[in-house]
Amino acid sequence: MTDNHNVEHIAIIMDGNGRWAKKQGLPRSMGHKKGAEIVKEIAKAANEKGVKFLTLYAFSTENWGRPKDEVDTLMSLLRQYLKTDLSELKKNNIRIRFIGERNMLDADIVQNMHRLERETQDNTGMCLCLAISYGARQEILQAAQKLAALVKNGDLSESDVDIQNFSAMLYTHEMPDPDIVIRTSGEQRISNFLLWQAAYAEFFFTKTLWPDFSAQELDDIIEQFKSRERRYGKI
Ligand code: FPP
Repeated sequence: MTDNHNVEHIAIIMDGNGRWAKKQGLPRSMGHKKGAEIVKEIAKAANEKGVKFLTLYAFSTENWGRPKDEVDTLMSLLRQYLKTDLSELKKNNIRIRFIGERNMLDADIVQNMHRLERETQDNTGMCLCLAISYGARQEILQAAQKLAALVKNGDLSESDVDIQNFSAMLYTHEMPDPDIVIRTSGEQRISNFLLWQAAYAEFFFTKTLWPDFSAQELDDIIEQFKSRERRYGKI
């Protein structure tokens, strides 16, 4: 990258749906519903701004531990979302892909994920990458296991286990690392999201709850990013 303020990849930890709903006196499920609507708006806005990759943390491996009714709500929202809103984004020339542990998900959901990936693979606009049933430590462990198997079989020598080969084993293998990681709702944690890929990302924490996040705020963050000095460990 020549200009290191190019915004190729933005990653967002969408937090605060529950608190947004509580503030309005609504059930948590309504916060998730509103959150899902914002996903569509932000994806369209980022695509229009020329962002190449937008990765959204929609469901972590740890989220499976939430009460069953909340997991069910999120899964039925996802099921519906795959058929409606995400399909609509096809028209915006957006390419859709998913990262995470698919074998934890119901078969019909996985089928629809494959369908959307297939149907949008030739789109030339932004890639919207949804992290669902995603955990970065699990992703890193799997990469290590795959490399270990290659070394064991003699397909790769130990000294070839380098950053490039390791990155190639991650879910995100065809994507650049994120330039910007945003977390909404005031929490300042990474919560097992893109641990490897975010090595040199610039972090932005906003108090805005995800359902209140807007294209304008995304613009403001991109502007702030441009004034940050990215040194990548150099001086
Ligand atoms: C965090 O809010 C958000 C989630 C755990 C899920 C994110 C999901 C969506 C934005 C909607 C679903 C998206 C798709 C693509 C179907 P929280 O519940 O942790 O909020 P809280 O911290 O205020 O309780």
